[in-house]
Formats: sequence, structure tokens, C-alpha cells
Amino acid sequence: MLLVKGSIEDHFNYAIELEQNLFEKGKLELLEEVQHLSKMIDIHYIRQKEPKGLGHAVWCARKFIGNEPFAVLLGDDIIQSQQPCLKQLMDQYEKTGSSVIGVQTVPENEVSRYGIIHPGSNNGRLYSVENLVEKPAKEDAPSNLAIIGRYILTPEIFTHLEKQYIGAGGEIQLTDALQLVNKLENIYAYEFEGNRFDVGEKLGFIVTTLEFALQNNSIKHDLLTYLEFIIKNKKATV
Ligand code: G1P
Repeated sequence: MLLVKGSIEDHFNYAIELEQNLFEKGKLELLEEVQHLSKMIDIHYIRQKEPKGLGHAVWCARKFIGNEPFAVLLGDDIIQSQQPCLKQLMDQYEKTGSSVIGVQTVPENEVSRYGIIHPGSNNGRLYSVENLVEKPAKEDAPSNLAIIGRYILTPEIFTHLEKQYIGAGGEIQLTDALQLVNKLENIYAYEFEGNRFDVGEKLGFIVTTLEFALQNNSIKHDLLTYLEFIIKNKKATV
């Protein structure tokens, strides 16, 4: 995904000029919204200086994390659910004490876009994991349970990421390091509840924007009118 570096940091930062401007114009509701954002969280950044893969990106954060369990959230997977996906995984971590990865079923012809698990036995939505493979060909995939970008990991992962093993696509893959952790620790996969949107590809980005816009009552009506206009006028020309 093309993400302007720093845009997330900026989103949650103080915007002094904007706040002043909104205050002077009496746009107090918007002002409150902007101020609420800047008070929500503190962000600490570690930049991955070379594009060497997801495993390498996580490894870059090792000093910051230290010897604690931690969460990984991939920004191009957006999940909408009653209970946040991460909370669902944290609850499973509390029960198992092992790394837990979020999974969902995907169509069989899409397995090569994901890390895929070979599930073992399950207790409801919680699966033990026999094996994990990054972006397998359709005929080699052990299932269609795909890793979606939410993980609760134990620091044990760094022992394996340290080796900088090059995997699928010539990159250092988190999935490969998880596979090694699984040999010692027994990691779990949890089929979380919720809708997942993929903003990492063009159509997914547009669909997600539309879905969220249609959930916003202040623009829903006008957007639907515009979509109706598009369908009526453009469809005939395609
Ligand atoms: C990454 C992971 C992959 C996972 C996917 C989920 O791949 O390597 O295992 O299934 O995110 O979105 P990427 O999308 O960065 O190629």
C-alpha cells in the first residue's frame, strides 16, 4: 500500500493551526473531533529503512518491544467487528499463553496472496496450527484459512527473525519465523468475528472507502444519490 510516511503520526498529532482556525470560525464540533484524535494515543516510531519484508519490519522493532508479548497490526487490513479483532485475539492469548494469529477463510483461488495455515484440532474458532506457509500456490495450500494482519506474538519470534532467513518473494517473512516458533511453542490461530476490508489493492481501497462512507449518516444520502447517477449514466457507456 502506498502510505505517505508519517500520515498516521500526523493524523493523531496536535494540529495547532487547524484548531485555531476552527475555533475562530466557531466550528466547535469539528474542533472537538480534531482535539479528541490528538488525545487518543501516543505514537512511537521505528522506521524500516529497507523493504526487506514483514518479518524484517517486525524485527526492526525488537529493541522497543523488549521481552514482552506484543501485537502486530497490518495497516492494509481493516477489520470492522463488534468486539475489536485484537481484543478477540488477546482473550485467546490469555487462555493459551501462546502466540495467536488472526485468520479468516478466503476463496481457494486467492490463497496465493496470503500466509495460509494448516489447521490441527479446533475448539470452536480456536485452532492449533500444524504448519504455516507463506503465499502457497493453490495446489500446495494446506487449507483456505488465511492469516489476516492481526497477530499477538511472544518475543520468542525475534530468535528466529534474527536469522534473517529469506523466504517467499525474496523477503524475510513473518510467517516463516512463526513456523519455527510453532515447533517449540505451539502457536494458535483464531478465526475472528468481523468483516475484513483490504485497502492494499486498488479495488479494495475504493470498496472500503464506499462502505465506510455509507455508514456515515452525514454523507450517506448524497453518496447514494451520486452512486445512482453513476450507475444510470456510466453503465450504458461501459
Ligand atoms: C502479509 C503476510 C501474509 C498475510 C497478509 C495479510 O502479506 O505476509 O502472511 O496473509 O499480510 O494481509 P502482504 O499482504 O504484506 O504481502
